[in-house]
Amino acid sequence: MKGIILVGGMGTRLRPLTWDTPKSLVPVLNKPFLEYVLRHLKKHGVDEVILALSNLASPIQECFGDGHDLEMKISYVVEKSALGTGGAIKNAAGDLSGDSFLVLNGDIFSDFDYTDMLKFHRQHRSSATIALTPVDDPTLYGLIETTDSLRVTRFLEKPKAQEVTTNLINAGAYILEPDLLDIIPSETEYSVERQLFPSMLKAGSSVYAFPSSGYWIDIGSPEKYSRLNFDLLCGNVASYGFQNNCDIIVGYNSQIHPTARLEGPVLLGENCVVGSNVTIKGPTVIGSRCRIEEEAFVSTSVIWQGVTVGRGCRFVSGIAADDCALQQGCEIEQAVLGNNVTILKNYKLASGTKVEPRQTIG
Ligand code: GDD
Ligand code: MG
Repeated sequence: MKGIILVGGMGTRLRPLTWDTPKSLVPVLNKPFLEYVLRHLKKHGVDEVILALSNLASPIQECFGDGHDLEMKISYVVEKSALGTGGAIKNAAGDLSGDSFLVLNGDIFSDFDYTDMLKFHRQHRSSATIALTPVDDPTLYGLIETTDSLRVTRFLEKPKAQEVTTNLINAGAYILEPDLLDIIPSETEYSVERQLFPSMLKAGSSVYAFPSSGYWIDIGSPEKYSRLNFDLLCGNVASYGFQNNCDIIVGYNSQIHPTARLEGPVLLGENCVVGSNVTIKGPTVIGSRCRIEEEAFVSTSVIWQGVTVGRGCRFVSGIAADDCALQQGCEIEQAVLGNNVTILKNYKLASGTKVEPRQTIG
């Protein structure tokens, strides 16, 4: 089966991280998010993938090239202007042969069994099969109602609270039959969720929901992005290898002062320096080339590459993107800092602040 991954969204809710970095490249345990998605697809025999791009296309193309490093065949289709989820599928599907194909939203992480999903799709002679997952708050997603035999009866994108009738939602993974492409207009903005699925249901087409009880998260907000990092680090995602939730993993050439205290799970990238009397409490991920200077305290955070946390700083429950500099004595809690942010000496940032890239605060 071939796959199309939709990676052309603006990543609005993940700003300021996504001003410079596409949502699909935000680092998860120091590797680009989409790498996990691609490796998982390959495990299920999907090794030919088209990435449907719009916003911030070139860094994604540079990152994965033709897919050689992942032993996959990756190609790219770039929209002139964003075509929406359906328009993007139509635009990208040009050279798909006449087989059923997989479509993924590019911001979902799951351990779904796509091999089983294809079997289910064929057994039910379905035109469109939508993976289903339970969530606490369906108002942020596409709500799906089904019959007992899993035939979809209703698809309601971003329902209002009073419209919520189930906790089951569209997980953003579909297997589609190629003749559906005839329904989608060319070079026109078109939504799978608001147009294609509701119109198929109205016409009585066979749309089925494939239930899954596995791990699933949409990394669309800073909280969920951090949560994915922590879940992987704490060994909460069985198929992803981290089994021991108090591991401390230190990258090549990183130096940790003997008086520093690291309480796992902590992942420290390459070429980092951790100074004397520093405390790092897990779950925390730190990218390569970071300096955590003496007496700093870092806890429950995700720090990208080239970041300096100055002497005596407190950085708690935060995210700092590439090359941020937190000068000595700063106090930062629950903040999200874009690339290259500087926080001046002894500044106490209000809790929950989001700072745009390249700003100096203090
Ligand atoms: N190429 C391209 N062009 N991709 C797009 C475009 C576009 O115009 N618009 C959105 N995308 C991509 C985004 O990059 C993302 O990977 C995916 O399509 C879904 O867009 P989001 O903006 O993340 O949508 P959402 O999270 O609010 O809702 C969607 O995902 C939920 C599951 O996480 C819907 O599909 C919901 O029904 C679903 O429950
Ligand atoms: Mg999303």
